[in-house]
Amino acid sequence: MATTSHETHEHDVIVIGAGGAGLRAAIEAAAQGASVGLICKSLLGKAHTVMAEGGIAAALGNVWPEDNWQVHFRDTMRGGKMLNNWRMAQLHAQEAPDRVLELERWGALFDRTKDGRILQRDFGGHRYARLAHVGDRTGLEMIRTLQYHGIHQGIDVYMECNVQRLLKDGDRVCGAVGYWRKDGEIVVFKSKAVVLATGGIGKAWKVTSNSWEYTGDGHSLALWAGADLIDMEFVQFHPTHMVWPLSVAGLLVTEGVRGDGGTLKNNKGERFMFNYIPEFFKAETADNIEEADRWYTDKKNNRRTPDLLPRDEVARAITAEVKAGRGSPHGGVFLDICTRRPADYIRKRLPSMYHQFKELAGVDITREPMEVGPAQHYVMGGVRVDADSTASTVPGLFAAGECAGGMHGANRLGGNSLSDLVVFGRRAGLHAALYAKNFGGQLAVDRGQVESAARDLLEPLERSGSENPYTIQADLQQSMHTLVGIIRNEADLKQALAKLEVLKERAKKVRVEGGRTYNPGWHTALDLKSLLTVAECSAVAALERKESRGGHTRDDHPYTDDQWGKVNVVLRLRNGALQVSREPLPEMPEDLKALFKERQ
Ligand code: FUM
Repeated sequence: MATTSHETHEHDVIVIGAGGAGLRAAIEAAAQGASVGLICKSLLGKAHTVMAEGGIAAALGNVWPEDNWQVHFRDTMRGGKMLNNWRMAQLHAQEAPDRVLELERWGALFDRTKDGRILQRDFGGHRYARLAHVGDRTGLEMIRTLQYHGIHQGIDVYMECNVQRLLKDGDRVCGAVGYWRKDGEIVVFKSKAVVLATGGIGKAWKVTSNSWEYTGDGHSLALWAGADLIDMEFVQFHPTHMVWPLSVAGLLVTEGVRGDGGTLKNNKGERFMFNYIPEFFKAETADNIEEADRWYTDKKNNRRTPDLLPRDEVARAITAEVKAGRGSPHGGVFLDICTRRPADYIRKRLPSMYHQFKELAGVDITREPMEVGPAQHYVMGGVRVDADSTASTVPGLFAAGECAGGMHGANRLGGNSLSDLVVFGRRAGLHAALYAKNFGGQLAVDRGQVESAARDLLEPLERSGSENPYTIQADLQQSMHTLVGIIRNEADLKQALAKLEVLKERAKKVRVEGGRTYNPGWHTALDLKSLLTVAECSAVAALERKESRGGHTRDDHPYTDDQWGKVNVVLRLRNGALQVSREPLPEMPEDLKALFKERQ
């Protein structure tokens, strides 16, 4: 076959993905003197980061002086059901305040306390009001800030560029191959280090807050390049999204609504969360309405309302209420903030929610409750990384943000994603730049690998076949929705894996009409490969873990099992086969263990 024509760009570091983690990594690598290429699948600034609306978690202690990194660390570990990589959780809690203050220095306009400091709001699983925020548009402000700061750092930005394969030189990575979405031309990036910051895998599910970009690209690129994935069974179904109208089902309703006074109710008007307080959180959760109400008016009593239990608990409770016939007309439950808070307060604190419901559902949330239900929002699992450096198990390959695993264990606390992005984005950029500085030998790209990637890319346009990529994507999403959802069991997971085998075969027969110039059918056909990969990883890991913990609930193994609390489920590809194993968690040092014995 003749050599495929392509353009080539060379950098010390390329960063794939330009949400919060990618932007922060690129800024840091450039600050270290590396030449940096920042590659985004869509336009710069179009990232799932904006779907973290309610705030960024950091123990600044502005509202509760009692707060500190140790309490944040402990909340994060407990929220993650102790399966988190303790060192990541420690670094995250220690460094988040500096990263928030840095964002402020770079121009982020956070809401203020009366005496002019950064205001912090309540969120689920956080002992103290800890989320620095900008109304209910915090992720958007963070992206805006990083973007404006980043464009002055001499970073080369490649927009609408979809990376399909990492290139390797022996064991180490040496670049990537992709294509321009606008004209389908092939592009090669030569680089000493690669940072993956591609976000999540939500598009494998039918109802998700993720937009079209989130097809598990970074997870798959890493796996195909030989890296390990961990914790892929842990998928977060955020409890509150719009359920109606259907055209906007899955649109996020920020946890900030509950943080600012909203309560969940069933169709009998009952505050059902009081019936779902797990043993683990009993000591710190109000178990009657009067006490919970006092918490909302006088938070100093410091027993939390059960509406703000961690997300996995709330999502399961909503699912149980709906299943028991106590749901709202469109299959969710009610979220009521107007009973407790005046209209002015709601419009000021939650402007996006106010407009979202008014314009999309004709509901005035200052006068009536919202209908909400869970949807796929986040994956805790991802590339296995070294906590301090974010290095994967493949030399030269780093990962940060949602596509990295370990930080959040079995369940992520709200607001910990934005802080994760900047803490580990910075670390990824720093260590990728250091790696590039110490890179020995020549940067060599194997033409055969480029040719093979290009052939795979063009195949759906050239082969004969009758399968439609959109139909396969829809069938995949339906299967994951019904068989690998909030509640799983062995029979369903086996059925899901059987269906995935069929879908993989069908995907090989996808034929796309038209040429390479902006052809969404072709793009969808190419995304199928990573979508099917991450869907399989998630189902295989879910089948392996025979217990219930955090974002993984098995109705055939309904209890949390101490033995399973000591291991990660690890996935790796060897000779084309997906291998699954259980490997011990890193041991937490005694001084950190002691924090779990203290009451406060
Ligand atoms: O509810 C929210 O505002 C989402 C935040 C997050 O996922 O961290």
